Amino acid sequence: MSTLTIDKPLANVIVIGAQWGDEGKGKITDLLSKSADVVVRYQGGVNAGHTVVVKGQTFKLHLIPSGILHPETQCIIGSGTVIDPGVLIQELDQLESLNISTRNLLISETAHVTMPYHRLIDRASEERRGIHKIGTTGRGIGPTYADKSERTGIRVLDLMDAVSLRQQLHRTIASKNVILEKLYDLPPLDPEAVIEEYLEYADRLRPHVVDSSLKIYEAVQRRRNILFEGAQGTLLDLDHGTYPYVTSSNPVAGGACVGAGVGPTMIDRVIGVAKAYTTRVGEGPFPTEIHGEMGEILCDRGAEFGTTTGRKRRCGWFDAVIGRYAVRINGLDCLAVTKLDVLDEVEEIKVCVAYDLDGKRCEDFPSNARHFAQCQPIYKTLPGWKRPTDQCRTLDDLPRQALDYLKFLAELMEVPIAIVSLGASRDQTIIVEDPIHGPKRALLYTNGSPITAEV
Ligand code: IMP
Repeated sequence: MSTLTIDKPLANVIVIGAQWGDEGKGKITDLLSKSADVVVRYQGGVNAGHTVVVKGQTFKLHLIPSGILHPETQCIIGSGTVIDPGVLIQELDQLESLNISTRNLLISETAHVTMPYHRLIDRASEERRGIHKIGTTGRGIGPTYADKSERTGIRVLDLMDAVSLRQQLHRTIASKNVILEKLYDLPPLDPEAVIEEYLEYADRLRPHVVDSSLKIYEAVQRRRNILFEGAQGTLLDLDHGTYPYVTSSNPVAGGACVGAGVGPTMIDRVIGVAKAYTTRVGEGPFPTEIHGEMGEILCDRGAEFGTTTGRKRRCGWFDAVIGRYAVRINGLDCLAVTKLDVLDEVEEIKVCVAYDLDGKRCEDFPSNARHFAQCQPIYKTLPGWKRPTDQCRTLDDLPRQALDYLKFLAELMEVPIAIVSLGASRDQTIIVEDPIHGPKRALLYTNGSPITAEV
């Protein structure tokens, strides 16, 4: 029950969001990236937003991995991401203005580029959907990935080649203008203006552009410690989330291999990050959502407003059904539970242990979206601790009810809790067990019976 520091070699670790995003991955990856040589972002685009607080300074990052705050760490934006170069350059400027070197940032040449027509189409199609809207961030993410799948996308390597970019953009903008004008009643884009804007971006980004999969492989061969940083969360995964209310990439752990261009045999550990309660931004079913005062309290205490859009997040109780699902889909070795301190003032805390679906108890996440929308939470109520925890630094410092709460979550999800976070700062953290060098979860099983967290 002592506080450990994570300063041994990290091995190759994936950190993913176990809920609907915004779990506090930024802080956890920042903490772990102290011992990482390389941090790789493998999917998503500027829809993501990481807030990291270091020495009282707040950094809001959308694309650049939070590892950039460690001067020796190499940061890679992998090929599974989609890059809005204007926003990326703003982030570079922000960091440099604070004297943080961006020399170590590498950008995959095969990542796809978000163009102005992607943003326009994203917003216009959302508006067209009316009550069926997804609630996207409006950053052009879906349309950029759609072009990638349709094989008409512009990649970073195209951006670096003025002749090819000009040809491709003239062709693509001609057809996008038909959509903008005829389908959405919007003015057409001027291809020359877009080309000029993007060629300027290309000049600024050129020194950072590399074959990122090769760089990662070289790092693996040199036995460097690599941290793969997921954006969004498991339930927003295009294949495994609450489709269609999802993003257009694969935030799950498997997405790291595809998005970074590494084989699964290179991965040593998968760490999930979950809030001590649940939030969701945008539309879509959310069984444990709290309507009313308690939801407002969690929102206020947790400062639950989107880093990217400023939208108020929907708040709810912890949902162990989706927690178990995240353990399964990602093969989680352990969990980091964040924002436990937000529950400090709550009299009674509810945890969803199963769903009621048409009178039947359902313990597994239903993949049918219609069924999921009908699920009613079955709660177990636990006593709150009604004491501040933000100064706790070891498990022994925590109130007994807070420990019981954590133990209950670990047992329900059959996963060890390795890290507990009690505030935004790096030091507001309890390292329960070493998330990297503790036993792999798969090895915790003996004779088929799980051994749950030693909390
Ligand atoms: P998109 O990724 O902008 O297409 O949005 C699709 C869905 O994912 C919407 O519900 C967004 O609110 C949600 N989403 C996208 N990025 C994030 C994120 O970083 N945190 C939380 N929700 C997100």
